[in-house]
Amino acid sequence: MIQRCTRRSLLGRGFLLAGLLAGLASTPTLAAAPEPVLIGHYASMTGKEATFGQSTDNGIRLAIEEINAKGGLNGRPLKVITYDTKGESKEAGNAVTRLVTSDKVVAVLGEVASGLSLAGGQVCQQYGVPMISPSSTNPRVTVGRDMVFRVCFIDPFQGYVGAKFAKENLKLEKVAVLFDQTAPYSKGLRDEFKKHFVALGGMITADLEFSGGDNDFSAQLSNIRSSGAQAIYVPGYYTEVANIALQARKLGITIPLLGGDGWDSEQLTKIGGQAIEGCFYSNHYAPDQASDLVKEFVDKYGKKFPDSQGNAQVPDGLAALGYDAAYVLFEAMKQSKTLDGKDLRSAIAATKDYRGVTGSITMDKNRDAKKAAVVVEIKDGKPVWRATIDPPADAK
Ligand code: PHE
Repeated sequence: MIQRCTRRSLLGRGFLLAGLLAGLASTPTLAAAPEPVLIGHYASMTGKEATFGQSTDNGIRLAIEEINAKGGLNGRPLKVITYDTKGESKEAGNAVTRLVTSDKVVAVLGEVASGLSLAGGQVCQQYGVPMISPSSTNPRVTVGRDMVFRVCFIDPFQGYVGAKFAKENLKLEKVAVLFDQTAPYSKGLRDEFKKHFVALGGMITADLEFSGGDNDFSAQLSNIRSSGAQAIYVPGYYTEVANIALQARKLGITIPLLGGDGWDSEQLTKIGGQAIEGCFYSNHYAPDQASDLVKEFVDKYGKKFPDSQGNAQVPDGLAALGYDAAYVLFEAMKQSKTLDGKDLRSAIAATKDYRGVTGSITMDKNRDAKKAAVVVEIKDGKPVWRATIDPPADAK
């Protein structure tokens, strides 16, 4: 093969050679370096729930960086491999299969959206690899899957929190519901909210649905307007919620919207603007909560993740849950006899009173965490802490 050797390509080759030699020279040290412990993360890094994946990944990486700075797992660093689910359940299944079968990770963190954790959890269960969802709240995620855990509360409690806050704090009697019938999370939370709000003596004036990806909600909103509701409970994800708020205000509907953790994104107010002011949602933590652990976390996160203007980013609940999930996994690894799936799962199951940013984490017999929730209000474009609600003694 005839090749024209330009000066540039010769130079390039020289560098390549030097690089190879340097590589050879340092081989002994490289070989001696302890092998990293691989952890998988599957997350919506792009798509209409992109901030869920991005924030969670940041939280996980902050934890891993701290863990490695302190010597990792007996001198072995932890390494995270993240694959994008694009917010689609088929992609979630593929991502987890790849993590487990080709990367051979020892454990998997993810997903955020319950529908996607249901898909990924099936794969983890099949291969016997432990999975911890930081933030999926639908009860079905862990049911019948002894490899699948979560570090967050579940929706029977979250629905109770929404209903109790609406009835007792906001003193509302009549609420309409608008939910995404394609998302297991949304449907489950709507069921729980309705049940608890009615049990507390409230009335549901309208119970209407949409489909994730819809952008016209006017028919449902007109219906709600004439139902006499004092608020609308919208257990959706932030993109649709913000659009629903915008359209409601356009139609002259001024009553507040209420919702759950799926609202948690800086995009909620970026898209929703004024339309979402004075609305409330339940969540796993509030960055302005009076807690030393929270303050320290907000500070560290802001330093590691400045925005494009160099200002500290304020971590949302996903970031805090990703951080806690990574630490719960690491603590279990330290206790586990080996890093085999079975041993590691037993160690995770034994998690007790772990003091996380999002509260104290103990795995119950269903592999779920029983924790308090907060309710925040959107004020000047930011979530502001309004209440902390503990699980009732008889919470299921
Ligand atoms: N709980 C939601 C679900 O299960 C996901 C979520 C958690 C979204 C926390 C935002 C914040 O689908």
